[in-house]
Amino acid sequence: MEILQGKNILLGITGGIAAYKTPELVRRLKDHGANIRVVMTEGAKAFITPLTLQAVSGNGVADSLLDTQAELAMGHIELAKWADLIVIAPATADAIARIACGMANDLLTTICLATAAPLAIAPAMNQQMWHAQATQDNVARLAARNVKIWGPGSGEQACGDVGLGRMLDVPELVDLICQHYQAHATSPNKQTTLSGQRWVITAGPTREAIDPVRYISNHSSGKMGYAIAQAAQQAGASVTIISGPVTIVSPKDCNVINVYSALEMHQHALEQAKNATVFVACAAVADYRVSEIAEQKIKKSNVELQLNLVKNPDIVADVAALAKRPFTVGFAAETQDLEKYALGKLKRKNLDMIAANNVATAGQGFNSDNNALTVFSKSKTIELPLTSKEQLAKQLVTLITQQQSKSE
Ligand code: PMT
Repeated sequence: MEILQGKNILLGITGGIAAYKTPELVRRLKDHGANIRVVMTEGAKAFITPLTLQAVSGNGVADSLLDTQAELAMGHIELAKWADLIVIAPATADAIARIACGMANDLLTTICLATAAPLAIAPAMNQQMWHAQATQDNVARLAARNVKIWGPGSGEQACGDVGLGRMLDVPELVDLICQHYQAHATSPNKQTTLSGQRWVITAGPTREAIDPVRYISNHSSGKMGYAIAQAAQQAGASVTIISGPVTIVSPKDCNVINVYSALEMHQHALEQAKNATVFVACAAVADYRVSEIAEQKIKKSNVELQLNLVKNPDIVADVAALAKRPFTVGFAAETQDLEKYALGKLKRKNLDMIAANNVATAGQGFNSDNNALTVFSKSKTIELPLTSKEQLAKQLVTLITQQQSKSE
């Protein structure tokens, strides 16, 4: 964790019960050599005292925009310039809303406006508040501005509810902060996060021929899979894409194996997965193919045409069943009961992770430039709100990397 040595991290604490975890967060970051300055909202002080944060950070805590003495010491503009990363943890629904609107009605939100530093938020709130459309809209606005959304996690909440809304645990936040700095390290000799790793990603649709001119397929454009490939490659992995027929440009420096049908994709995927570190099944594979492809164009007749369909092999399940398997991530494209069906696939296909998307919602999913994912692993659920597929892919690669390092 040398990567944190000398880094200037401004920790914004807002008023949620998870604020009690922040002294531990400050201590862990300081253990790794980071300089920490804390800014608290009025709400935060109801949960934890500035004195505690001052003691663990070794620096005075700032909490007021209009305090002349504090402004003389290190004013809001200086704090905004001092930080090379701002992390708001916990970030309440109210703080998220105010930052999304560009408000500057306390010290923390003013700093967020006045800084050029990257901003990350670790949401923490009741599950119903997290799912509220207003909160989701605010989070999507922030994500679209490249604010990093770390969490929330799922589980039992202080109010007794169970669901999404818990602030990520301190070790997870420390990992994400390290990954942020690793991704932004500028040294030409840098060891990027994924160097030495080999990722195999399926992308795009498959086409199941009916006769020489017709096929069964779907609307996958390959954008989501290619964005994941790009993000993994940029993070230092060597990447192979097994791609169904698409019209988009291949990401730079990735090896692309072009296939047509599910059977071809299956064959290449099993070959490539044998020595892969991570396998991501983003392709929209046809579940069925015709039992016999007609040699000649089928002629129109006045009677109904019956096609006999047989099941295609399940590519991702077969990869997950390999004796020496890569960390295996599936996708779930659903139009209803997302959680139920995604968890069913996670279990049935024996996956390490599954990224579920609602493909019935306009403006995301198939062939869109944007998407939103709910990522399930055996122990966790993480929402990645609507944003560009490129941004989402980066977030997903980070999640996969975190989860994969835990399973080693
Ligand atoms: O390509 P885009 O236009 O960008 O759209 C992205 C996407 C919507 C295609 C993508 O986000 C997505 O959801 N991909 C998975 C589509 C899918 O086939 O989902 P599924 O729920 O039917 O399949 C579940 C998982 O099993 C998937 O990981 C799929 O790749 C895999 N599968 C399915 C059938 C099969 N025979 N073999 C498989 O490996």
